[in-house]
Amino acid sequence: MQAADQTLGTPEAQAPGFLTSSVGRKVVMAVTGIILFGFVTVHMLGNTQAYLGKEPFNHYAELLQTMVHGAGIWVFRGVMIAAAGLHGWAALSLSMDNWKARPVGYRAQQMKSATWASRTMRWSGVVLAAFIVYHLLHLTVGSAHPAFIKGNAYHNFVEGFRVPLASAFYIVAQLCLGLHMWHGVWSLTQTLGWVHPRYNKLRRGLASALTLLVVGVNISFPIAVLAGVIK
Ligand code: HEM
Repeated sequence: MQAADQTLGTPEAQAPGFLTSSVGRKVVMAVTGIILFGFVTVHMLGNTQAYLGKEPFNHYAELLQTMVHGAGIWVFRGVMIAAAGLHGWAALSLSMDNWKARPVGYRAQQMKSATWASRTMRWSGVVLAAFIVYHLLHLTVGSAHPAFIKGNAYHNFVEGFRVPLASAFYIVAQLCLGLHMWHGVWSLTQTLGWVHPRYNKLRRGLASALTLLVVGVNISFPIAVLAGVIK
């Protein structure tokens, strides 16, 4: 016991554990990033039901709410909250470590040379967090919706996007999602070890294709409603 007490203040005792090491937090970012990315892709595919009309879309929305006798949606929500929380926490704590570790002169130099990518990751992440809060109040809770009808997801979708300002915010948020996803997929492939210059073209191509698909389809929803294609 005494021996254990004596080690408490030593550097060995303070050596970083998995979650406090920067590698550990990068792995957390990568794993939670894959979960969130998977959700956004499946969510986008599910929302394409809106092009099929009211019945298929409402049926799909009802299926989500009632899967596993209504327990499925809560398990899903728990996983999403944990993934988003851990993703944000790891991003914030890695950024804070970077700011603390750099001497002032070096920091100024770094700011100049820091990639546009890494800087946009922070603010696009903040816009996305704000978008998710708004989106939940808009289409799930309904308190930020002009004509919400509980249980009629298609009506909420169409009436929600008929408001130009709401549609504009969705489009801006999807552009931020695009920036975030592009750099996320790029960094993820790096964390996975595809660092050889030979892979750079493949990594760039993969990041661009996935981002264009998700963002392009997501942006099509408000545009289709405003253009009267979905009504
Ligand atoms: C234009 C793009 C999008 C459309 C049209 C859309 C549509 C919808 C709709 C209709 C619902 C409500 C389903 C229901 O209550 O039955 C919903 C829920 C939700 N959406 Fe989206 N969404 C979009 C983009 C996103 C993005 C980019 C994210 C995340 C980054 C996201 C996250 C969520 C979440 C977390 C829920 C709540 C699921 C729940 O717990 O019930 N959505 N979305």
